[in-house]
Amino acid sequence: MFREIDRLRKAARKSGEPILRDKSFKLLLSVVEEKKPKHILEIGTNVGLSGIAMLYKCEEATLTGIEIDEEKINTAKENYKKFGVEKRAKIFSGDASEILPVLTGEYDFVFLDGPKGHYFEYLSSILPVLKVGGVIFADNVLYRGMVLGKAPHKHATIKHSMENYLEKVMNSENLKSTLYEFDDGVCITERIK
Ligand SMILES: C[S@@+](CC[C@H](N)C(=O)[O-])C[C@H]1O[C@@H](n2cnc3c(N)ncnc32)[C@H](O)[C@@H]1O
Repeated sequence: MFREIDRLRKAARKSGEPILRDKSFKLLLSVVEEKKPKHILEIGTNVGLSGIAMLYKCEEATLTGIEIDEEKINTAKENYKKFGVEKRAKIFSGDASEILPVLTGEYDFVFLDGPKGHYFEYLSSILPVLKVGGVIFADNVLYRGMVLGKAPHKHATIKHSMENYLEKVMNSENLKSTLYEFDDGVCITERIK
C-alpha cells in the first residue's frame, strides 16, 4: 500500500501538485505512528495522499479534511475509496478561514498544510478544538527560507503570518514546540496544558 501511495505522490508532484516533501512526509508518519491519534484534522487536503497514509498508520483514526478546490476534493474522495478508507475520511469543502471558526469536535492531531499566509489566523481556531496532549504538525513554516531570512514584498504577508505563528507556538506556556529546519521547515507543537 505504501508503495502505491509513494507512486501516486510522485505522479501528483510531477503534475504540479504541492505534495509534502519526502523527509517531512516521513516525519509526519513517524509522529502519527507514535501518537496514535484518534481524530485527525488536515487543513489543505489536496488529493488526499498524506491523509490516506496517516489513516494506514492509525487504523482506528478518523480524518477530517478541509479543502477549497472542488477538483482536488473529487480526486481525494476517489483516492479514499481506492484505498478503502472512505468510511473513516470526510472532507469539508470550502475556505478554511470560514470553516475553522465554526468547527466543532475535538482533535488530537492537526496537519496544518493549507494556505501559507493564514497559519497565524488559523491557530486561534485550532487551539479550542485541540485536546491536551494533541499535536499540530505545521508544514512550510520556513517558507523557502524567507521566514528566517529576507522576503520580497509580494511574500511579506506569508512571512509575517509565519513569524507570528512561530512566535506564538514557541512562546506560549500551554504549548511545546520543536522546529525542524529541513525541507521547507516543519514545526511540531504539542498542547501540554
Ligand atoms: C500543500 S497542499 C496540501 C497537501 C496535502 N496536505 C498532502 O500532504 O498531500 C495545500 C492545499 O490547500 C488547499 N487550499 C488553498 N487555500 C485554501 C483555503 N483557503 N482553504 C482550504 N484549502 C485551501 C490547496 O488547494 C491545496 O490543495
